[in-house]
Formats: sequence, structure tokens, C-alpha cells
Amino acid sequence: MSDGASTAAYSDIYRRSLSDPEGFWREAAADIDWITPPERILDDSNPPFYRWYPGAVLNVCHNAVDRHVDAGRGDQAAIHYDSPVTGSKRTVTYAELLEQVRAVAGGLKGLGVEQGDRVVIYMPMVPEAVVAMLACARIGAVHSVVFGGFAPQELAARIDDAAPRVVLSASCGVEPSRVVPYKPFLDEAIKRSDHQPEHCVILQRDQLRAELGERDLDWDEFFSSESARAGADCVPVASTDPLYILYTSGTTGKPKGIYRDSGGYAVALRWSMKNLYDISPGETMFTASDIGWVVGHSYIVYAPLLTGATTILYEGKPIGTPDAGAFWRVIEEYGVSALFTAPTAFRAIKKEDADGALLKGYDLSGFRTLYLAGERLDPDTYEWASARLGVPVIDNWWQTETGWPIACNPKGIELLPIKPGSPTVAVCGYDVRILDPQGNEAPAGTEGAICIRLPMPPGTLPTLWQDDERYVSSYLSAFPGHYLTGDGGYLDEGGYLFVMGRTDDVLNVAGHRLSTGSIEAALAGHEAVAECAVIGVHDDLKGQVPRALVVLKSGIDAQSEGERIRAELVTRVRAEVGPVAALHQVDIVGGLPKTRSGKILRKTMREMADGANPAVPATIEDASVLEALGPVLRGS
Ligand code: COA
Ligand code: AMP
Repeated sequence: MSDGASTAAYSDIYRRSLSDPEGFWREAAADIDWITPPERILDDSNPPFYRWYPGAVLNVCHNAVDRHVDAGRGDQAAIHYDSPVTGSKRTVTYAELLEQVRAVAGGLKGLGVEQGDRVVIYMPMVPEAVVAMLACARIGAVHSVVFGGFAPQELAARIDDAAPRVVLSASCGVEPSRVVPYKPFLDEAIKRSDHQPEHCVILQRDQLRAELGERDLDWDEFFSSESARAGADCVPVASTDPLYILYTSGTTGKPKGIYRDSGGYAVALRWSMKNLYDISPGETMFTASDIGWVVGHSYIVYAPLLTGATTILYEGKPIGTPDAGAFWRVIEEYGVSALFTAPTAFRAIKKEDADGALLKGYDLSGFRTLYLAGERLDPDTYEWASARLGVPVIDNWWQTETGWPIACNPKGIELLPIKPGSPTVAVCGYDVRILDPQGNEAPAGTEGAICIRLPMPPGTLPTLWQDDERYVSSYLSAFPGHYLTGDGGYLDEGGYLFVMGRTDDVLNVAGHRLSTGSIEAALAGHEAVAECAVIGVHDDLKGQVPRALVVLKSGIDAQSEGERIRAELVTRVRAEVGPVAALHQVDIVGGLPKTRSGKILRKTMREMADGANPAVPATIEDASVLEALGPVLRGS
């Protein structure tokens, strides 16, 4: 998009993005350095599969690093690493980043990693993790970052699906209350997976050093190896080739490998920084998330670096490291223009410092915008943040699958009036429709399934990793010609979107997306459990938390054994899914309500637990089971 974008109104630009998508995204592509510039913009010859910039060639690492050094930004900070949990800080300039990425890329090649090979990155929020991602991009290897809060079984599922040649990891992560040993988790995951990586490179951290085995290499030795010293240059990568696979939770226990292409993603992120996030080269963006999530991939790593901006890598929490003023301290210290985090973080800050007293100690004069995403932004939190900070508070709605916002207030184009509870309007390139169960468009104000008419814009998933069939059955088959987001909501008369929540059984706990299926699989593995169901229930801090309903095998006495079993189930979910699942409530019940075809009525139970009086589905097998659960679910 040319710089003229900021003078034209959103509605004109949006309309053009839908009426002339190829012209629109051709212009946007001019902000990226191509090895072979795109001639064709969209390959729509094989619907429902669409590919952006077929035939074009680029290297995303070049665009994120080398390009800025070449343009004279070598001395500018690329990353400010700020880690209150370890008491350390480090700034990496673009020139230093280039040197480190070259070395790690060379080291990976030395380990036999070739273009198209996968590399799993299971690392905490340290600069080496960002370097590792970019090093993969440099040599055309496909990274798959796994969030550190996941347990070995989740890591194993990702290792088996991605089949990495190499795993890059660290000895430990550091949480405020404890050191999390990563290496034993990695070893356990590899033991559980069929696929065996050839090498694991382990970054040894002072807080806990790991014992290395035969397959393992010490990061420092790897970093100073001959291949690393030789370094590696950027290779040409087809625009349609994968940059990364990022696994996300579906309804079942098997995670979905989101395929992220290279060219479309680079163009979309660069466009979003200018037109949505209003960040220019040289400015600083602070995204308080984790590189294990899509928000981290896009707005800690790729978008700021593709823009030549400075990014903050914050290894800490919004509260307790050391207090609820931590974000304000970071904003002042690094001259942050925009903060991006999840509403949960603000609910936590508000709980600790309701009057915002800690804000007074910091100079936030350079701070322009707060962006919140990852879960619904409740109007209370919006009002609080808006009043305390005195800057626009911008809700944006998207998902791992899309990689960048579907709905947002396009501040870089024009700041539209904010309606609390709405992430504002559809972003350019996204033709958002609300569909009723028959696939007809719902009138304004009427809730339905939020869908996006195909093709979706660049950057969004073209398919699932090695699973076209699941891509179609999960997202495209419900309403032919449309992508099903899995969220329900409505558009108002003014075209503002209101997102009401998932229509499937995906959970959202503190902005972390989790699968009911994985938690249920962990519970079902306990010897006393005959049947179970997990539902997401409202939580004032985390938005939603899981709640388990468990039927014991016959002959087990819930009265005498219940307490032990409940405690074991909580521990089991922590060990099998991870601490982020935050399962604390397990109810032992006599039976689970089902439809006549055997489907558990999770949605009905969830609504009852949240205090509603849902209609009993006509397909219920035995209404008395649901009735009996009423007092348990409502806590009466
Ligand atoms: N590695 C290992 N363990 C991790 C982890 C990681 N990367 N991240 C979280 N965990 C653990 C935590 O230590 C905690 O363990 P505990 O049960 O032993 O205390 C558990 O997982 C739950 O963590 P979290 O969701 O962070 O909750 P919390 O109660 O520790 O903190 C908040 C509450 C509000 C401070 C926290 O949820 C937060 O910062 N939320 C912001 C949300 C966010 O950034 N979402 C990302 C999407 S944009
Ligand atoms: P993830 O793939 O982890 O980013 O999770 C995506 C899901 O989080 C969406 O499908 C929504 O259910 C929820 N979500 C993300 N952002 C928002 C938002 N701004 N408002 C409401 N829900 C959101």
C-alpha cells in the first residue's frame, strides 16, 4: 500500500480490497523485497484452495534482517530483551541480529538441515528463540515453535506431525514462582513420539543446567561450530512455500498444523503494521505475549522486524514481576509507541492496582495506542484501560489460522469511533459474513456463524500441514465458499462486528487456546474414569477456565475415593496437557447428557454453568440426566 493510504478513508480502501483484490495486494507487495517479484497475484484455479503470489520468490529473513542492515539500520535496536524473572536485559541491534542469525543458520546447515526440513523450537522467551526462527527462515527450513507451557504429550504430538530433523530447546524456562525444566520434558516427548529428531540443541541457562545426552548439543558449542562460523546466506524461497507450522487447538485432541506461507504472510504483516497498528520503521512495539502463540509469531517477531521497527521480548508477567507497573516501566524505558497484549493481562493489572496508582511513576508521553486481542475484550476492561491510559484502546479479533487481524480499528488509515464490545470493522481483504444454519446471510443485529468469503487475503492459512482433507472438513465444508471461523457473532447496522464466543468446544483460558479433547483425553486415561466432559466456564480473571465433569467406573465409591481421584485428575491434566490448562474444578457426576447419537451436550452444560437457562435440545437421549446435573453446574 502506498503511503497515501493514510489519507484515504477506510471504507473506500476496504471496498477496493474486495472489488479489486489483485490490484490491492499487488500494490501492498511493493513494500517487500522480492528475489522474483510477483507477476501473478492470486492463483484461484483450484478452489477452495487459493495461493497468493504464485511464482514469486523471496526470503523472509532477508526482509526482516539483512534488508534493514543494508538500508543503514544496523545500529538500531532490533530486539530489547527484558527479563524481570531472571533480572537480565539485553539489546540486540539489527547488525548483531544478522550476525547471530547467520551463525545459527550455518549451524543448522552443519547439522544437515536443508530447505523444506522442519525444525521444532521449544524455547522460552529469550533472544536465541527469535534468532532460531529467523535462522530457519534464512535457509528455507520450516520452524514450528511449541509453547513452553505445554506438557510432553502435547510436544510429542507436534514432533510426530512436523517430523523435525532438529529440535532447538533450552535447559529451562523461568516462571515467577519456579524454574520449569524444559529438557526432561523434551526427552519425555521424544520418548513418546514415533518420529525421532536427529539432534537437539540445548541452550543452557544459569537458572538450571541440563544434562546432555547422545543426541544433544550445547547451544554455545553449536554457535561456535565451524559451520556456524561460516554462516549461511539467505536462500530463495517460493512465496507459497511454508515459513512455519504453528499448531493450534481444535475440538479434538489432535492439534491442527496451521501452514503459514512466506510471501503472503510477509505482505500482510507489513501492510498491517502501517495500516492497522500504525507503527513506522524505527518505532518500538511491545507485544506482551509469547512466541509460542500466533500473536507472538506475528507481532513480537515478524511484523515489527519486517517493518524495521524495534520489538520487545519480555520474559515476565503483567503482575508480580515485580508489580502491576511492569508494563508501564517497559513502555517508559524503551520508548514504546504501541502495546499489544491480551485483555486478561489488563484484568490482572486492574485487580492489583484498581486506581492505576502505579501509572503515576512513569512517563508514558510517547505511548500512543493499546491493542488487545486473543479473547473477548469485555467493556469493563476496555473502559478501565481507556480511562487510565488516555490513549485509544483497540480491540482486534483474529485467530492462529488467519495470522493477522480479521477485524480491527484501522488506526493507520483512520481511527473509527470505538464501540466497546466490538473489535470494530472487517479488515481489508476479509469479506466477513454472518450466516444462519442454512447458510443464508443473517440480517444486521442477528447472531450467526462468523464466516469469511473465500478467498481470504494473503497471510491466512492456505491449508493445514500435509492435511488438505482436514482443512476442508474443519473450515470449508460447513458453508461452501466460506471459511468458518468457529466464532459466533453479529454485524450491527454500521458494519461493526461483535464477536460473542466460540460455537465449538475450543477453550480460551487467559487468551490461550486449548482443546477440550486434549484435556478429556488426559482425564480419560485415569483408571477410575468411565466417561468425562470438559466445558469452559466464565472466570473473572482468565475469561474462561476449564471445568471437568467425570463419571467414575462402576464399583468405585465416589464418597470415599472422590477427593483422591479429583486431586489425581488435576495433577494428570497438568502433566499431560500442561499447567496453562489451569484445570482446578473436577465434579464427579452420575452421568453425562447426550444426544441420541451419543454426542455430549457440552454447550448446554456450559450455558447452565454460566447461569443461563438453555433450551433442552430435542435430540437429547435422557433429559433426566441433564436435570440431575443442574444443581452441580449451577453450584446450587
Ligand atoms: N512455561 C511453563 N509454564 C508456564 C508458561 C511457560 N511459558 N506460561 C505459563 N505457565 C504456567 C504458569 O507458571 C502457571 O503455572 P502454575 O499453575 O504453577 O501457577 C500456569 O501455566 C498458568 O499460567 P498463566 O495462564 O500465565 O496464569 P497465571 O495465573 O500464572 O497468571 C496472568 C495470570 C493473568 C498474569 C497471566 O495469565 C497472563 O499474563 N496473561 C496474559 C495472557 C497472554 O499473554 N496471552 C497470550 C495470548 S495473546
Ligand atoms: P487463537 O487462535 O489462539 O488466536 O484464538 C483465536 C480465538 O480467540 C478466536 O477464534 C476467538 O474465539 C478468540 N479471540 C481472539 N481475539 C478475540 C477478540 N478480540 N474478541 C473476541 N474473541 C477473540
